[in-house]
Amino acid sequence: MKFDNALTRMLGVKYPIIQGAFGWRGTGMSDIAVPVSEAGGLGILTTICYDDPDQFQQDLRKATSMTDKPIAVNFTITKGPRFNADYHAEYVRITLEENVGTIFTSAYDASGIGLKFKAAGRNWIHKCATLKHALSIAGKGVDAVVIVGLEGTGHKNPDQHTTLINITNLRRMIAIPIIAAGGIGDARGFLAALAMGASGVYMGTAFMATQEFRIAQKVKEAIVHQRVTDMEYSKKIYQMQRSGLHSLASGVIDTLPTVREFIERIIEGAEEIAAEFKQWGMLQA
Ligand SMILES: Cc1cc2nc3c(=O)[nH]c(=O)nc-3n(C[C@H](O)[C@H](O)[C@H](O)COP(=O)(O)O)c2cc1C
Repeated sequence: MKFDNALTRMLGVKYPIIQGAFGWRGTGMSDIAVPVSEAGGLGILTTICYDDPDQFQQDLRKATSMTDKPIAVNFTITKGPRFNADYHAEYVRITLEENVGTIFTSAYDASGIGLKFKAAGRNWIHKCATLKHALSIAGKGVDAVVIVGLEGTGHKNPDQHTTLINITNLRRMIAIPIIAAGGIGDARGFLAALAMGASGVYMGTAFMATQEFRIAQKVKEAIVHQRVTDMEYSKKIYQMQRSGLHSLASGVIDTLPTVREFIERIIEGAEEIAAEFKQWGMLQA
């Protein structure tokens, strides 16, 4: 199966599978981004997880020396004493100088940063949680939008819909590529997102449950053992309480594969499902 669409061509990747931003210190670094890019997806370094711009620059150089595939950078626009108006300036300068082709912004409006990269001929993708914010940022010249469903984790919003509602509705509203996030963790979720009109998927929880992810083993075990039938847990996610680190994607995660095994499993699983559809006459051979 070939995954050749506007998004894969824009990003220069084999598969439309993107590793989510991780702002926790030491997590969203080259250790996870390089294996994702090497396996055909797109790995992201998250600037707010570094101690300072020098550490970021060193890790970005390390990442680009370890793979000839693209590596992207995320700028999470957040609030707090550490994040004054100038916080991102050095990270932006380094990312431009090191010739990163695609940047992601997330959380609050980041058009100031995004437009700087667009002016330099780079791709700018913004991640948001609501249809309203997706429409607003699409009007500001972004190249693609990631929209996170309520079943996902990270930044939450009272106006947030589920992934199903987000993608099917947004597909009717904007023409640029849409990337689905929230609760996706296997081949069925991947293929479903594409069927709904997304050009690719973006996953956080699922990549945390890989061998390469730098987090305590007990956190990974908690993802693997999380029962999606535990209503107390599901309610916390839907009621937007900061219930824990992982999302309802945990319902389809039952092992801790390497990143490559995980991505290959998604692609092979998608091919098997597509073959089944063909058998039933649902797709042309
Ligand atoms: C531990 C953790 C830290 C995260 N940190 C950030 C962050 O700093 N910036 C950001 O944009 N998203 C962050 N996210 C959200 C992910 O990038 C992604 O949008 C989300 O995990 C998608 O939902 P899923 O977990 O169901 O795949 C974080 C997610 C997790 C699990």
